[in-house]
Amino acid sequence: MIKIAILGMGTVGSGVVAIMNKRGENIKNKVGTELKVEKILVKDNSKKREIELPPEVLTYNVEDILDDPEIELIVELMGGEEPAYEYITKAISKGKSVVTANKLVIAKYGDEILKLARENEVQVSFEASVAGGIPIIRPLKESLVANRIEEIYGILNGTTNYILTKMTQERIEFDKALEEAQRLGYAERDPSSDTKGFDAAYKIAILSSIAFETSVDADSIYIEGIEGVTLEDIKLADELGYVIKLLAIGKKYDDGLNIRVHPAFISKNHPLAMVNGAYNAIYLYGDAVGDVMLYGKGAGQMPTGSAVVADIIQVAKDINYNRLDTHSLGAPRNQQIKEINQIDNSFYLRIQVLDKPGVMSQVTKVLGDNHVSLSAVSQKHMLTPIVPLVLITHPVKEENMRKSLYELENLESVVKINNLIRVEKKHNG
Ligand SMILES: NC(=O)c1ccc[n+]([C@@H]2O[C@H](COP(=O)([O-])OP(=O)(O)OC[C@H]3O[C@@H](n4cnc5c(N)ncnc54)[C@H](OP(=O)(O)O)[C@@H]3O)[C@@H](O)[C@H]2O)c1
Repeated sequence: MIKIAILGMGTVGSGVVAIMNKRGENIKNKVGTELKVEKILVKDNSKKREIELPPEVLTYNVEDILDDPEIELIVELMGGEEPAYEYITKAISKGKSVVTANKLVIAKYGDEILKLARENEVQVSFEASVAGGIPIIRPLKESLVANRIEEIYGILNGTTNYILTKMTQERIEFDKALEEAQRLGYAERDPSSDTKGFDAAYKIAILSSIAFETSVDADSIYIEGIEGVTLEDIKLADELGYVIKLLAIGKKYDDGLNIRVHPAFISKNHPLAMVNGAYNAIYLYGDAVGDVMLYGKGAGQMPTGSAVVADIIQVAKDINYNRLDTHSLGAPRNQQIKEINQIDNSFYLRIQVLDKPGVMSQVTKVLGDNHVSLSAVSQKHMLTPIVPLVLITHPVKEENMRKSLYELENLESVVKINNLIRVEKKHNG
């Protein structure tokens, strides 16, 4: 028998216990021995629990778990940075393996935690920390390990994907779509970690560190959220054959990596364009395998529970057969992270200009002087003195695009720069 303890019994913790209860016999066969949930740590002793538990299982004191030498595996499902980080590191130092769904702790302290795990010869698994129920960590570490991964594009945040899908399909503004997401429980009361792109950034930091075998400092990631995306941009994207998605991107270049999160135009034919609502997906390109896409539920009690229980089974099996594989935790190499300014991208640019002769040539001169060439131009003919102008560029260094914007802003005929959104293409598309 292997004794485990769960830290946290909220949404995911309850799902994990439900799956373990339902699949107990099957799990026992897979692990090769019985798994016993010895203790569950919670905070609030007045809370009614979703799942009935024997009173001796619940504890409010983490030492009951950390000091019990018979507990070999800790499942951290509390969330947040502290005390989760403290409990995880203490558990490892005491020779316990850890399963966690905590993207924040893994993105920030992953290297340090894995080093500690190697030193203490225990296992740390975190499948549920990225894209909930979608298996991606283990596929990257194992099934795809023969490849040089060249790029990863993820729709890793269900809340923002839900909002953008609503805006696209129902032609509603951002605020209204956010309200709807909050009403349905897809968005939190303070949605900023999602809408400002931080949640997706933690996740792409974790994926990139595994795919590119490097140490990724979450602070080095370029992050733009979706708050600046308007219904007007969504409609224009549609007219031009695109949809707008919040993409988390990790790309390998000859001289380094670039990791970023921002809204992007993608062709309606791109596999990620079909990922709608609260669903998540990861599209990646490996030099041997080619295109791979994984799609599914990126959050929720049972999908996330599915990933956590899979990790529990795997680690427990390794404990049971005494084959803890600390080697696969891999010591990272340091690869250079390239600044976004040095990256080539196509751009969608929406500006407002005075409707008078010569304006278009002034705009194209500024762009041309900065090596920005255009692949599409759309100018609506309206009976107003100020008209919208929409441009799609060929790939150009971001630095040049930024310089053009600055110069365009200073042209008298340019009334307003409305928006600049990157246009992303598939590896071979
Ligand atoms: N929810 C999802 O769909 C989802 C998806 C992917 C990943 N995750 C990750 O899974 C983890 C858990 O998320 P969740 O949604 O299940 O959170 P949750 O519903 O808020 O549950 C958190 C649990 O942790 C307990 N807890 C919090 N702080 C504690 C402390 N200081 N001491 C003892 N217990 C404490 C809470 O105790 P009380 O019950 O007593 O308050 C509660 O049972 C997070 O890292 C999250 O990012 C969640």
